[in-house]
Amino acid sequence: MSERLTKSAARNIFYGGTIFFLVVFLGLTLQSHHYIVNDSTDEAGLTPSVIAGKKIWERESCINCHTILGEGAYFAPELGNVWVRYGGKDDPEGARDILKAWFNAQPTGIEGRRQMPQFHFSDQELDEIIDFLKWTSEINTQNWPPTDAG
Ligand code: HEC
Repeated sequence: MSERLTKSAARNIFYGGTIFFLVVFLGLTLQSHHYIVNDSTDEAGLTPSVIAGKKIWERESCINCHTILGEGAYFAPELGNVWVRYGGKDDPEGARDILKAWFNAQPTGIEGRRQMPQFHFSDQELDEIIDFLKWTSEINTQNWPPTDAG
């Protein structure tokens, strides 16, 4: 074996390495796409109501105070798991009622407590937001974020 790397050997390493990692990259991209489409996203559950809820979420910039699935601002609680934290898995009707009452009772005006604005949502808008939060809570995030607090 010669001590020096010949020009052609260097070229082969360059092209071989480039092709090898390109194939690895494309493979991982396809795998991610497959996972997002088939496993992590509940496309069938994406009802018009969930979509309307997401639009309200964007219109009102809830993310300026809250995180969702760990992403957003840290002024107010994580909401990706609020449906589960309010017992939505065991008692969906109960959780929906409590959440609606909660929205309607804001702001609490309790001294020293962070306040959430009153948005004056209609009952239908509340259903839509709650449907969006419920749908979000069912995304398989592989346990992200690691704590309930986001
Ligand atoms: C100006 C900041 C602010 C904005 C904007 C805001 N929130 Fe909040 N939100 C809060 C705060 C602060 C709390 C916690 C209040 C408390 O515990 O007394 C809260 C609590 C909540 C809770 C209860 C969470 C829990 O863990 O108990 C829900 C649900 C919620 N917000 C939904 C929303 C939605 C949906 C929007 C957008 C339409 C929104 N919030 C916009 C500040 C905000």
